[in-house]
Amino acid sequence: MRGYFVTFEGCEGSGKSTQLKLLAQKLDEAGADYIMTREPGGSPIAERIREIILDGKNTAMCDECEALLYAAARVQHIKEKIQPALESGKLVICDRYIHSSLAYQGIARGLGEEYIQSINSYAVKNCRPDLTIFLDIPPERAFDRKHGADEDDRMEQLGLAFHTKVYNGYLALAAKDPVICPVDCSGTKFETSGKIWKLLVEKGIVRG
Ligand SMILES: Nc1ncnc2c1ncn2[C@@H]1O[C@H](COP(=O)(O)OP(=O)(O)O)[C@@H](O)[C@H]1O
Ligand SMILES: [Mg+2]
Repeated sequence: MRGYFVTFEGCEGSGKSTQLKLLAQKLDEAGADYIMTREPGGSPIAERIREIILDGKNTAMCDECEALLYAAARVQHIKEKIQPALESGKLVICDRYIHSSLAYQGIARGLGEEYIQSINSYAVKNCRPDLTIFLDIPPERAFDRKHGADEDDRMEQLGLAFHTKVYNGYLALAAKDPVICPVDCSGTKFETSGKIWKLLVEKGIVRG
């Protein structure tokens, strides 16, 4: 049986890495057969594309190039890692996926959701998440937790106005795409982790 595919989404500093670490501990305790991976990246070639996308020196990169590089990294990652794991019945957990492209490049950059869906129809094909957990916290609070943006990261350097557009983009996507489940993550990391586990049990993705 094909494994479940679960993706995590949210603004910079919303707690994705923190939650993935806590989830890994719970999955280990439960003896689950899973892999954890991230976008952009997750395979050696895709990680090299990630370096180009995030490099703070690449200020001349146009929005279309950025969107296509994300899609290129994604298809490599799918073929090398995600698809084989799902086919062998493993649960795949991914830090960011197509909804990041829709929120960042489609909505916040203004390329449009249709443009992003169109280029990703080649990259993603039918490799769609069964569940997307959106860590819901406004960007100003998320940046506070991180103590500001990373100076070397081109995406983090875009400022609060851009990241507010991303956040509103995620809310708009969540309102129309039932695969997205928003999780209020204004509480402690352990409270959020408990909510995520409950959701995974409810969806039949893990055993409680
Ligand atoms: N619930 C929480 N309350 C307070 N701080 C948190 C919480 N969750 C995460 N953090 C902190 O916020 C910062 C950003 O979290 P991180 O997991 O790196 O976010 P992301 O991977 O989404 O960018 C880290 O310093 C982390 O320790
Ligand atoms: Mg992270």
